[in-house]
Amino acid sequence: MTNEELAAAAREAAKGAYSPYSKFRVGAIVLGRNGEIVSGVNVENAAYPSSTCAEANAVTTAVAQGIRDIEAVAVVCLDAETIDGGYPCGRCRQVMNEFGVDRVVVSSADGSEIREHKLSELLPFGFEL
Ligand code: THU
Repeated sequence: MTNEELAAAAREAAKGAYSPYSKFRVGAIVLGRNGEIVSGVNVENAAYPSSTCAEANAVTTAVAQGIRDIEAVAVVCLDAETIDGGYPCGRCRQVMNEFGVDRVVVSSADGSEIREHKLSELLPFGFEL
């Protein structure tokens, strides 16, 4: 899948975000090395700090479906002012590291700007046991 296709799928997914507290709608797409696609959104609750991120939700759903080998993750925040405001948080980078993610695709809310990163660029020296 191209970065453009992944970003478009992430934008579509983000429409389903449940983020009434932050009003920050995030969508993520996992591309498994088997070619399968899994989506995730951020899901908040009234105890706001206990919310879960879109990328982590997409990855954990993929794992629950038997997809443990992940080629790429795309993420978009529909409410970030710039593309820089839509990057994966530190915890999500570590979650991606666990399942072999190589390519991270970040895009602006309208999809006009798309960036591809190596996970090692976003998470150098990720924690390993
Ligand atoms: N969020 C994500 O979904 N992914 C990230 O990588 C960073 C933050 C969500 C969590 C919360 O619902 C909202 O964005 C504001 O922090």
